[in-house]
Amino acid sequence: MMDTQQVQHKYELDHSNRKQELKAFDDTKAGVKGLVDAGITKIPHIFIASTTENSFKTSTSTSNELQIPVIDFKHEELQEDGVARKHIIDKVKVASETCGFFQVVNHGVPKEVLDDMIEGVRRFHEQTHDVKKEFYTRDGSRKVRYFSNFDLYESKAANWRDTMICGMAPDPPKPEELPTTCREIMICYSKHVKRLGDILLELLSEALLLKPKHLEEMECGKGHVLVSHYYPACPEPYKTMGITEHSDPDFFTILLQDRIGGLQVFYQNQWVDIKPVEGALVINLGDLIQLISNDKFKSAKHRVLANTIGPRISVACFFSTYYYPSNQVYGPIKELLSEENIPLYKETTARDYVLYYNSKGLGTPALEDFRL
Ligand code: OGA
Ligand code: NI
Repeated sequence: MMDTQQVQHKYELDHSNRKQELKAFDDTKAGVKGLVDAGITKIPHIFIASTTENSFKTSTSTSNELQIPVIDFKHEELQEDGVARKHIIDKVKVASETCGFFQVVNHGVPKEVLDDMIEGVRRFHEQTHDVKKEFYTRDGSRKVRYFSNFDLYESKAANWRDTMICGMAPDPPKPEELPTTCREIMICYSKHVKRLGDILLELLSEALLLKPKHLEEMECGKGHVLVSHYYPACPEPYKTMGITEHSDPDFFTILLQDRIGGLQVFYQNQWVDIKPVEGALVINLGDLIQLISNDKFKSAKHRVLANTIGPRISVACFFSTYYYPSNQVYGPIKELLSEENIPLYKETTARDYVLYYNSKGLGTPALEDFRL
């Protein structure tokens, strides 16, 4: 038996080793891809997820029957104020009220733009280390940031993933500030995704029985951030995660994924695969829309499994103003409240919310702390 002092000493030792290991990994500025390129066959300790997370992963049979809906936006029919549009709104409403996830096809973003965006992200992550490392930073004031694990020092276990992040609206960087490997496509994709974001906000407003421009006027679509992930193939995928389970801290996310798969949503008490669908975009609702809709819409927990066949590439576009200075305060929408429907959340700004969320690290729910 060790006495308390010994236990404490051991804890401190482990703790300081972990910190040193994290720092050493961070200092390489080469991310997870750097480890894979170096030919490792065992994953470093800092990436090993807790046994609860791991056993959860292997013991839960992921459902083959449950599927999240694929909604056809039939672009031209959406423009008209007819039955077809109502039908689409109904599907968006059901998905938003239940699993908080759906995929869309015929969304108006050309297939070439989707493919080019994935390839642009691949070029960024696969360029020479000497050039890429110049972007490696955790300094929030830098327009383009590349790093591995935004919560590297806060989370219990690091994820098998590298990321490049850039705020594209409302205050886009100058083109020359963007990486040359994906400059044009980031600007192009960003324009398309903003247009789709505005359409989604109309549909979501109508699904809440608000006037079509309600959410847009609340500035839910004013800002967006492109978060470009690279999940290298992992030699021991059952010991770690691509992304720890979490909900997103925004209004909604438009996610582009390649064909590898691994994204799952927690729905009806099980993990459901969000299978890659050719030409589709995944839409998921975030914590802020659950807050302003007073729990009508769901911000669902999701995660990405590590894979053996990667790299898997995805681009999450987070709609929120985040770091953009704004005094806009968000609480449950007044029009949705009544005597039976009392406000369930405190008010917050988009910035305060994301700062709080980030301070907790992925996997620690933040929204519940805003519940009244
Ligand atoms: C995220 C996220 C999923 C993916 O960035 O928040 O959940 O498929 N990404 O990369
Ligand atoms: Ni997410």
